[in-house]
Amino acid sequence: MTNLSTHIFYSPNKIILGMEAASNVSDELSKLGGGRVLLVTDPGVVQAGLISQIENFLKSNSLDYVLYDAVEPEPPDGVIDRGAEIFKSEDCGLVLGIGGGSSLDVAKGISILATNSGKILDFCGIDCVPRKGAPLLLMPTTSGTGSEVTRVLVLTDEKQNVKNVVFTPHILADVAIVDPALTLSMPPRVTADTGMDAMVHAIETYVSMNATVFSDVLAERAIELIARYLPIAWAKGSNLEARYQMSAAATVAGLAFGSGGLGAVHALAYPLGTEYHMTHGRTNAIMLPHIMKFNLSGNPAKYARIAELMGQDINGYSMYEAAAMAVDAVKELLDTIKVSYNLSDYDIPTKDLPKLVDGGMKQARLFVPNPRDLIREDVESIYEGAY
Ligand SMILES: [Fe+2]
Repeated sequence: MTNLSTHIFYSPNKIILGMEAASNVSDELSKLGGGRVLLVTDPGVVQAGLISQIENFLKSNSLDYVLYDAVEPEPPDGVIDRGAEIFKSEDCGLVLGIGGGSSLDVAKGISILATNSGKILDFCGIDCVPRKGAPLLLMPTTSGTGSEVTRVLVLTDEKQNVKNVVFTPHILADVAIVDPALTLSMPPRVTADTGMDAMVHAIETYVSMNATVFSDVLAERAIELIARYLPIAWAKGSNLEARYQMSAAATVAGLAFGSGGLGAVHALAYPLGTEYHMTHGRTNAIMLPHIMKFNLSGNPAKYARIAELMGQDINGYSMYEAAAMAVDAVKELLDTIKVSYNLSDYDIPTKDLPKLVDGGMKQARLFVPNPRDLIREDVESIYEGAY
């Protein structure tokens, strides 16, 4: 199945990948025009000692900065709006986002509010932002979201208690610095959750109806790297090769889904995040094998290829048998890194099922590119199967 529509491939102007790549931060900020920097992050990144390291780079190059470390997971809209107020009141000129997906997404939001008047909720939707944001440099400290290379930010609409997105090329980073050394302090659970988010990006975009020649090549490589190196990074956090390959894979998966889009895994994972405050990566990991099983008939050839990329020996099996082996491969990976894919293991009462189904249906925009159509009954039985 080839997607014959016209493709546009977006990416940041510059991606710097490598051990110790973070030392380029001052140089790159200066090249972006200088000015006062708003450093956007969350308290966990500060506690891990990563910010003091970056602050030292900035200080030694006499770069003036203001720290905004109030980012929360699944960032509420108010966190972005308050950051933008600080950007303006402190007379900043550039935004530097450091952290996991939430910090990078908040940095992206502040960047556009610096040049477009309004609150962040005014800009939710596809291409609803008139002007490019303030210069933006993003540095991930996890290997998962790929947010450093995408043109989407995800936020929580506090009043509605629902996820929303701002989707615009105007939030693409001017520079993404991907330094695997910044991910070394991730504990195994965070390594597993964020790594599975990257795997979901790669698999969802690979089988998406919107997959492109660009997303295919990137997704295949990401699936292969994550299957091989995520268990190693989980087992031995100090393994530099595994950390390097996971950082590379997460960024590559981000570029892939930036071109090919996501699907039903993210849709059905979102309500778990908003209702039970579980991490984005964990909720995706839980839903992945269940959605894959449901989706197999939508693109058996590509699921068979996923099985092969994940190390399954598909020789001698039919395409349909091989496709089903992709689900087994994902379950084996999840078992290895001790991530349960059963909702019953997460204290989510079965009486909450209708609430989950309602939440999943609110994300129906993500059903459009999914390789198999879903109706409410399907959503219901997928969640039931996940218990
Ligand atoms: Fe994701």
